This record gives sequence, C-alpha cells and structure tokens, in this order.
Amino acid sequence: GKGTYPFYMLKEIDEQPAVMRKLIATYAGENGLMKVDPEIVKAVQESDRLYIIAAGTSYNAGYGSKMMLEALTETPVELGVASEWGYGMPLLSKKPFFIFLSQSGETADSRQVLLKVNELGYPSLTVTNVPGSTLSREATYTMLIGAGPEIAVASTKAYTGQIATLAFLSKAVGESNGLQIAKDFDLVKELSLVAQSIEATLSEKEKIAKIVEKNLLTTRNAFYIGRKMDYFVAMEASLKLKEISYVQCEGFAAGELKHGTISLIEKGTPVLALISDPSVAAHTRGNVMEVVSRGASAIVIAQKGLEQESDDFVVSKVHPWLTAISMVVPTQIFAYETSVQRGLDVDKPRNLAKAVTVE
Ligand code: F6R
Repeated sequence: GKGTYPFYMLKEIDEQPAVMRKLIATYAGENGLMKVDPEIVKAVQESDRLYIIAAGTSYNAGYGSKMMLEALTETPVELGVASEWGYGMPLLSKKPFFIFLSQSGETADSRQVLLKVNELGYPSLTVTNVPGSTLSREATYTMLIGAGPEIAVASTKAYTGQIATLAFLSKAVGESNGLQIAKDFDLVKELSLVAQSIEATLSEKEKIAKIVEKNLLTTRNAFYIGRKMDYFVAMEASLKLKEISYVQCEGFAAGELKHGTISLIEKGTPVLALISDPSVAAHTRGNVMEVVSRGASAIVIAQKGLEQESDDFVVSKVHPWLTAISMVVPTQIFAYETSVQRGLDVDKPRNLAKAVTVE
C-alpha cells in the first residue's frame, strides 16, 4: 500500500535512492566484477549495433543510457519508437542486438517489434521491472530492474532504475573488452553518489513546491530545454508534466528553440532549463536569456558548480554518464507538485492506463 503517502507517485519518487542501492546489491559482485549474465555480455560484444526499442518513459530512459552504452560498449546505439517500428523496421546493421526497455513488460507496441525480431532470429534483451512478463518471456535474455511494484501511472523509479541497470551492462561489457574507461568507472561509488544526490533533491520538495506555485499553477503551456544529456532529460521531464498536470509541454534541444519554436514564448511562459554539462552550460544560459528577454519565466535546474542565480535549483554532482538519473528527479517533483496543486488525481491521470496492451 501507499502507507502515509497521499499518492503512490510520491512514494515511488522517494524510493529511488533505495532502488539505486538495491541495484548495486544485485549487480555488483564482492570481487569488483559485475554480476551480469556472461551470455548477455557476449551477445552485446558480438553485435555491431544496439537497437533500443521502447515507448514513452522507457523510450526516454533509452536516450538517458545511450551515451554511457556507446562509450563503454564501443557500439553504436539506435533508438526505436516501438509503435513505429512495429510497422516496419529501418535498414538494420549486419549483427543487430535488440534491447527492449519496459517497466511492465506488457507493452503491446514493444511486443510487436519483439515478435518481428524473433521471426528474423536476432538476439534480444528485455530490461523490465516485472519478472515473468510477456516481453521477458519472449526475449532471449532478461535483466530485472527490481524496483518493486510501480503503481502510479506516471513512471518514475522505472526510468531511473532502467538507466542504472543498463549502467551495469555497459560496465560489464566494457570491462570484458578490457577497456580502461570501463575499469576506471567505479559504478558502485558512482551510483552511491547518485543515491545521495537523489536524497538531497528529495529534501528540497518545499522549494520546488514554491516555484510551482509561482510559475506553473495556471499556465497552459511550458518548455523544458537542455543540451546533450539534458535534452534527453528534457523529453522525459516534459512527458511527465503533460501526463499528470495536463500542461502542454515540449522538451526541446535548447539550441533548436531559435529555429522557430521561440515564437511561442509569451509573457509568463514557463521555461525550465536543465544545466548539468559544463561544456554546454554557457550556451544554455544564453538560451535562458533569450527567452527571458521575450517575457518567459525561466526556472533553472543546475548541477552543483553550474548554478548562477540564487533561485536556481541545485542538483548535487554525479558522473556525467549518470546525470539523466540525478537531473530527472527534480522534474518528477515539478510534475507531481503541479498536479497536486491543481487538485488533480496524480496517480490516475485521465485517459491513461498503467500498461498499454493495445497497439
Ligand atoms: C509515462 C508512462 C508511459 C510508459 C509507456 C511504456 O509515465 O508511464 O509512457 O512509460 O507506456 O510502458 P512500459 O515501460 O511498461 O513498456
């Protein structure tokens, strides 16, 4: 049950540090080696391209994992929207390996692709939160997130858990390939820091509640912007906000805004900027100034060290491959607070079901 929590979503947001620690216990061995099925590692090593197939939040988690997967497996990663790939797959590489990301393991759109993949005889891995689910049974391999039941329709701990699970796979493959950057990537330490970063963010819910009250209570639309990893987080952040608060929101590559979309900025339009990457921070700051000069209400979520204004929301620092996890948490709380303050049913948004078992 949800205990003293008003909504499951809040409980599941709060569970994320524990999910990170549980994943460490599951996938990190005492000897410093990853406890990832060697068969899966081998299948990835034999592949020339990794295809991540998923829907919604799980699709966004694929993007949040892409940089780390590519760096550590030295294999290109391509993302596929399940509902589109079901109707026809693009030209595939010679040795594809398919990774299905699905909290429920029951998403019909993803299953359509898996059926095709099985027909073609390609190997596959399902990363899921539900043992014995359809996508788990029908794929060659399974890795479990083990986040515990996710009841709220809006997915939170499955997103962060999927990325962390793929971190173990990435590290295991890199190590097996003798890659120095894989050996240097101390995943136990880094995920512990992620857990601490999440805890620090969770202790600042009041601050987010106040920003929401000031900026998001009545607006009909909003934007999340970011560059590189923060762009991927912006896509997930905006999906979450749309889903449970009914605010129309776009997650945008910060640099794309000026190529048309900036015409939508009016007085008071909330623009939430994600800034975790020092190499592009100044550019995104520039985009914040552009929208502010057109009347937008800017809200900056910055990683520690990149904050500038006293009201920037600060997220403590984690490894660059893992910022999708740390940076998404405040955005989950932004979505949650906006929904609560608008008096909506956070756990059961209109028109939505937890597992989408129709195409
Ligand atoms: C968003 C959400 C959906 C699901 C999507 C895929 O919060 O919950 O977008 O992420 O329907 O579901 P799974 O991961 O179960 O395949």
